[in-house]
Amino acid sequence: MHNPQLHSDGRLKHLLSIEGLPKRILNDILDTAETFVGVAEREVKKVPLLRGKTVCNIFFENSTRTRTTFEIAAKRLSADVLNLNVSTSSQSKGETILDTVNNLIAMHADMFVVRHNQSGAAHLIAQHVPDHISVINAGDGRHAHPTQGLLDVFTIRKYKPDMHNLRIAIVGDVLHSRVARSEIHALTTLGVPEVRVIAPKTLLPTDVEKLGVHVFHDMRAGLKDVDVVMMLRLQNERMSGAMLPSPQEYFKTYGLTQEKLHLAKPDAIVMHPGPMNRGVEIDSSVADGMQSVILPQVTYGIAVRMAVMAILAGGGQA
Ligand code: CP
Repeated sequence: MHNPQLHSDGRLKHLLSIEGLPKRILNDILDTAETFVGVAEREVKKVPLLRGKTVCNIFFENSTRTRTTFEIAAKRLSADVLNLNVSTSSQSKGETILDTVNNLIAMHADMFVVRHNQSGAAHLIAQHVPDHISVINAGDGRHAHPTQGLLDVFTIRKYKPDMHNLRIAIVGDVLHSRVARSEIHALTTLGVPEVRVIAPKTLLPTDVEKLGVHVFHDMRAGLKDVDVVMMLRLQNERMSGAMLPSPQEYFKTYGLTQEKLHLAKPDAIVMHPGPMNRGVEIDSSVADGMQSVILPQVTYGIAVRMAVMAILAGGGQA
């Protein structure tokens, strides 16, 4: 079946979700990102791969990390960057998404980076744009956040290079998390042998096992001997009704503390895509502790987003 993310010759055309992408594409992005890590160390933090191209960031939903790191990444590739402020755009006067996109196409945009609270928004735009324009999904509803999944895998590879010998636990609100879905698809495609999810039943999708994960409801059992602990935020804005006891009760059972972290391997790393809720899913002593790689995730996100944009623009390394 034709994958709308790929050109007919198998090259990447859009990045909409990790599900369905072949392993060679994931490895190409990760290997290309490796070449961009050093750009930040240079006196002039730029390479000319996207010179003359215009990247439009259209964020219909709030963001700190994704929007800014896409902007930095595009600028380091020498692109011109346009950040559409949706809250002050003509969306507020009733303009449709596709009319907004049509206007940006008329301004000769070359690439769209799109975040939206509705699953499928980036797909809709990708189906609509002419052939020479690429679309990157920067998070759509609870569906997918492919560059977050890729930067998480890139970070794991930096600290734990033998991906075929890892036990990884994803802890928390998997049900509402586009990040968890993208991470699971990336990790299983790349051959990580054991991916665990740890959560109460109310915060897991039905049939989550079909994604190739092992399910734990007891956090202590789930953390035993893992190499990587990925914490997820409780996505209260996506919950309907009471799915949980109080945040204090949740923290007692599923919050990551130093005491619970001791059940993982002694050299385990702790990750979180952000934004973090300290004292709800993670204790500050862990978030800021020696095993935390939460800020390196953000730094590596720039190199990964540079790689995705460079590949979509026709390839090239630093
Ligand atoms: N991880 C992530 O998507 O963070 P932002 O919402 O700040 O972009």
